[in-house]
Amino acid sequence: MGVETGTNSGPELLIALDRGARAPLRAQLEDGLREAVRSRRLAPGSRLPATRALAGDLGVSRRLVVDAYAQLLAEGYLSARGGSGTFVAGAASGAAAAERVPELPALQFDFFPGNPDLASFPRRRWLRVLRETLREVPDRALGYPDPRGAPQLRTAIAEHLRRVRGVVAEPDAIVICAGAAQAFALLAQAIPGERLAVEDPCLPVHRTILAANGALPVGVPVDEQGFSVSELAALERGSGRIAAALVTPAHQSPTGVALAPARRAELLAWAAEDGRFVIEDDYDAEYRYDRAPLGAMQGLAPELVVYTGTISKTLAPALRVGWMVLPARLVDRVAELKMLADHGSATLDQLALARLLESGAYDSHLRAARRRYRARRDALARALHTHIPGTRVEGVAAGLHAIARLPAPVPGLAVMRAAAARSVGVYPVGYGYVEVRDVDDRFVLGYANLAEPAIDEGIRRFAEALAEVEAGPPPTNDGGAIAR
Ligand SMILES: Cc1ncc(COP(=O)(O)O)c(C=O)c1O
Repeated sequence: MGVETGTNSGPELLIALDRGARAPLRAQLEDGLREAVRSRRLAPGSRLPATRALAGDLGVSRRLVVDAYAQLLAEGYLSARGGSGTFVAGAASGAAAAERVPELPALQFDFFPGNPDLASFPRRRWLRVLRETLREVPDRALGYPDPRGAPQLRTAIAEHLRRVRGVVAEPDAIVICAGAAQAFALLAQAIPGERLAVEDPCLPVHRTILAANGALPVGVPVDEQGFSVSELAALERGSGRIAAALVTPAHQSPTGVALAPARRAELLAWAAEDGRFVIEDDYDAEYRYDRAPLGAMQGLAPELVVYTGTISKTLAPALRVGWMVLPARLVDRVAELKMLADHGSATLDQLALARLLESGAYDSHLRAARRRYRARRDALARALHTHIPGTRVEGVAAGLHAIARLPAPVPGLAVMRAAAARSVGVYPVGYGYVEVRDVDDRFVLGYANLAEPAIDEGIRRFAEALAEVEAGPPPTNDGGAIAR
């Protein structure tokens, strides 16, 4: 019999090996595994059979299976999690982190980086523009909407982005969506090619969203100049084409570095070479404190860059409104996918937001917010220097969060737990990596949603939590997953 399939222990996995074929068995096994990951027969995060079990089952040497797994690990299809096995990459690490990060109770001093100052949402203004919208909107506007979004909002966003971010934006190139999250979901479906580069570290939920929508996220390291384009190119040379790169050039999430001008040029050249895309997540670029303005990358190459923006950091995440400015070759496909996803975003909120933009109220809200956040950022830096001497504060020239670099590495989860016991939320950077780093010296601290006295008290308690953990047993890594 020439063809053997199946595994008889551990997770089931159907791989066909044809001993009569010319291709070597190892190449057949690698191809079979790649195909299983691409077709999602092996779901992101799922465990692969142990090498011994798969080897026994297929009647090949264990060495051959070990080598095949190693090759796919190098290509980013698989990830190893210490001694606990080999897993399909993509959502794998996100899922693992989610399993291990405790469900936190409502915290009194929460440095969660996702929120702006929720107490300063312009409730009265919002009510006014909603009321005006309802009074004036014609009945026909209450029917099914244009899936690309209300023309009034697309026009107002185009004007705003041209003026404030140097984006080349025409209303016809814009699709309104449910936050950046939905933009990434639709783009994963729309962009041809299966592998999509993401920053490592990044916001884990974005990797999960991309993977859940058919893309295969591949982590590319971030250094002090941002996303490493040379690592991206090396990865492609080693393991094949990557169709797009999702980056946060204005303020890398989470490390806070700005993508250096030379890197921007390199990344655009990479995209231009082979019809690839750059997805520019401009999530918090409205906030810039003491550095020269950096325009959006999209303004340099509108046919290569998909620009995504959101009101989650300027008004409130709960509204779920964001937008994409798309290269011409993507507009129709993304609009179609938006239609298929949900028939289009809610019209009344879009029209209210258009009014807020047109009236100038959005700009004044931002000006006031910038002043408030600068004061909070300064309060955070002071509190860290006071309560945790030796801590470096990084990534603070822009955005709504800072990185606190502690004097020494600590076990992130233990500190998180000890802080939560004191009603403080702090977020280890190590949990944003494809390969989770349990021990690291950096924490993400969002400061926008806490008043100055709460920032000081929260950091004082954070220092207590650190002292408690440091007094305990010395930190170890889970199976040596840390690559520092
Ligand atoms: C890196 C990054 N991108 C985008 C967003 C905004 O996401 P959304 O518009 O889906 O709320 C956030 C919010 O925290 C973020 O951290």
